[in-house]
Amino acid sequence: MSARLYGVDFGTSTMKIYKKNHGVIFDAKNIIAVADGDRVIAIGDEAFEMLGKTPSNIQVTFPVKNGVIADIANMLAFFNYVLNDLSKTHGKIAGAEFIVAAPTDITEVEKRAFFDLVASSDAKTKKIRIVEKPIANALGAGLDVTTANGVMIVDIGADTTEVSVLSLGGIVLSKMIPVGGNKFDEVIINNVRKKYNLIIGNKTAETIKKELACAVAPVNARTISVYGRDVVSGLPIEKEVSADFVYETLSELMYSIVDAVRIVLEKTPPEISSDIIDSGIFITGGSAKINGLDVLLTEETDLKINICKEPGNTVALGLGRIIEDSKLNMLAMTLKQTYYG
Ligand SMILES: Nc1ncnc2c1ncn2[C@@H]1O[C@H](COP(=O)(O)OP(=O)(O)OP(=O)(O)O)[C@@H](O)[C@H]1O
Ligand SMILES: [Mg+2]
Repeated sequence: MSARLYGVDFGTSTMKIYKKNHGVIFDAKNIIAVADGDRVIAIGDEAFEMLGKTPSNIQVTFPVKNGVIADIANMLAFFNYVLNDLSKTHGKIAGAEFIVAAPTDITEVEKRAFFDLVASSDAKTKKIRIVEKPIANALGAGLDVTTANGVMIVDIGADTTEVSVLSLGGIVLSKMIPVGGNKFDEVIINNVRKKYNLIIGNKTAETIKKELACAVAPVNARTISVYGRDVVSGLPIEKEVSADFVYETLSELMYSIVDAVRIVLEKTPPEISSDIIDSGIFITGGSAKINGLDVLLTEETDLKINICKEPGNTVALGLGRIIEDSKLNMLAMTLKQTYYG
């Protein structure tokens, strides 16, 4: 393994890059602002600030959708921008080795797109390997995935929830559903409009979610005030939004996560089920921070639920473990091993 080794998590909401011997060196919103069709004017958190405020010649887009690269041109522009920026502080990146995390429950063409993106980028490298995202995720959660002890891990991200069962360094089962933080924001926008006659943007919806969302009925009647545009008068107004309203709004989506977990549990081989009864289910992803998720999942599955520390970072930290520990290195596969092996 060369010393110039990088791990990349192309998340729908955030992109993270891990560098050998350095840790996570890049962590920003996976969003790009392009002016006049091809001029990159901002990426990451700076581009996010522009969301909903741009003139018509500036497009602000998220190149990854539902966990896969949906807009190759903008993802490549984003990645090259980041590589060129990082090379100023981290030295030459061209020719380095890359390990990329890709979801399991996607098509081979979609998986290959992660490889092709890095191969065609300014990284100018053919030394690219892919790691199944649930494996990186479990390692980042501090689990040992190489033993015969089966584990269940659930990654609740921005566009997707990936429920996986792992054993002996491989994926036994993995199911991805299109539910995550972005969907929560979307239903909050729709229901705020219906109930309060208020039009709000994505950033306000995300704030409401982070402040008030709860997977079980909230115990105290908290509210926050939000600003938006009145549907009838068209004027900017302020309204109080309650935790009860957010709970009711998100409940159906919370139960779709419960259902995905149940479906995978039903298909899990019995020997592994007994391991899961012992250790419980591990929950990661930025949306794992929603209050009461552990309570809801325990109620619905009768299993112990472990919400991981730094849940949004586990995939990048897992790539880090593969990069730093030569014993885990075999978990990263070349394209040949992955697709034609
Ligand atoms: N405190 C919080 N409460 C609720 N949701 C949160 C909180 N903090 C972050 N989130 C949500 O977590 C999501 C981002 O999670 P994460 O970084 O795991 O996604 P991702 O890896 O980019 O997406 P995916 O895995 O779907 O490709 C966003 O929707 C964000 O709003
Ligand atoms: Mg993710």
